[in-house]
Amino acid sequence: MELLQPAILVIFGMTGDLAKRKLLPSLYQLADSHMLPESFKIVGISRRDTKVDDIIDLIKSSLSKADLKKPSHEETIKWLRESLTIVHMDMTQPDDYSVLKQKLDAIEDSVGVCLNRLFYLAIPSTLFRGVIRRLGSEDLNHGCQHGVAESRVLIEKPFGYDLVSAEELIHTLAESFDIEQIYRIDHYLAKDTAQNILTFRFENPLLTSTWDNKHISHIIISATESIDIEGRATFYDQIGALRDLVQSHLLQILALVTMEKPIDSTAERIHESKVNLLNQVLPPKADRMAVDAIRGQYENYQSEVSNPKSQTETYAAIKLYIDNDRWEGVPIYIRTGKSLKEKVTEVTMVFYDTDPPDCENRLTIRIQPNEGIALSLRIKKPGFEDKIENINLDFYYKSLSETTHHEAYERVLVDAIRGDKTLFATSHEVLASWRIIEPILQAWGQDQSPLYKYKAGSWGPKAGTQMPGKDGESW
Ligand code: BG6
Repeated sequence: MELLQPAILVIFGMTGDLAKRKLLPSLYQLADSHMLPESFKIVGISRRDTKVDDIIDLIKSSLSKADLKKPSHEETIKWLRESLTIVHMDMTQPDDYSVLKQKLDAIEDSVGVCLNRLFYLAIPSTLFRGVIRRLGSEDLNHGCQHGVAESRVLIEKPFGYDLVSAEELIHTLAESFDIEQIYRIDHYLAKDTAQNILTFRFENPLLTSTWDNKHISHIIISATESIDIEGRATFYDQIGALRDLVQSHLLQILALVTMEKPIDSTAERIHESKVNLLNQVLPPKADRMAVDAIRGQYENYQSEVSNPKSQTETYAAIKLYIDNDRWEGVPIYIRTGKSLKEKVTEVTMVFYDTDPPDCENRLTIRIQPNEGIALSLRIKKPGFEDKIENINLDFYYKSLSETTHHEAYERVLVDAIRGDKTLFATSHEVLASWRIIEPILQAWGQDQSPLYKYKAGSWGPKAGTQMPGKDGESW
């Protein structure tokens, strides 16, 4: 990997959920594998009396969590402790931004070089616009004090609450930051398995020649989660499953799976191709909402969020079409939900033949867990009788012993530090995605489809599990 330029990462929301679960462990991993720039500083913004040691404790405890059972190396912890500064400020107070600026200048003076400034907004989206404006008015949108390094702003999803608020956010950003300075995070794009989709599709002639409506009967994109909302009541009850996962992660995956081959592999062309596709996606028609946009809520949810009237969906299953020659007539089923039976994120392309009608091959791209790709095929069963058997060709990433696996947020951070925007969403993509889900949000807001209750640990409401056809298994 190329040498990364000196940088300072300023995290708004340093003690928040995202920082604890994803950012801090990722920073640790990157530091541990010496993948951060030599001159690298971290500034945590906190209103409370947080100390560097509190953050170090957070890092250690996040590493000991089940899925990250990594011991913390004392040397790495020491390096992180030395790199960390806490700035106590109230991010809603304009005057406090001069304190931040002075601190950043002072850190640069002590390091002796200008640092690219990366402002990571790991905060509720309702606070984005205020923070962005204040960064602008305090001149923090112009890189270091000597004007030689860059300033970048990294924004977490959801980017807006709906189409109008996303447009407003784009407008607010444009008042202070140029397009090149803005990084809209969608960590699904940074997963190795998602990145592989374009390579896999376009580097295998077997697939390029069959990737269309003449060979594929339907496409399934499913991202089920076994976790519930994990205490994020305020956030989740305002957002719901459609905004939380579909508007961002799953429509991005859909774009990767169905977009045309970009003219070249530059970020610009990839984004162009993705946005073209997203603009062709058709949401369910108004009179089909009750069957093509199913929503559900797990049974204990209302008491969990202390809102007995909450109509927020924790489950969504929708059916979309794409209005172009390649995909005309191919239904696309997208499903997500909390408190479901298992955590599985996969894309399945169902290849078909009309004769016999039930004969199909399935290509499954396992985004997570058990990252890999499976292809179900039919063979003649060995033996004297002429019988057919279904078999699976199965590839697991873990069988590639030479490669190191990096968490998606490690990639997000490295790409932001090195200024590579390929794996970040553009404003056009974000708007196109809001345009797709907006009619569904409106229909649900007007109670045009029932909010089905489902049991935690199940596969969700029956209306949803039956959506792609024969039975629940077909997801
Ligand atoms: C986040 C959502 O963007 O993605 C969470 O806000 C969700 O609700 C998470 O749990 C899932 O991410 P991953 O990488 O664990 O599949």
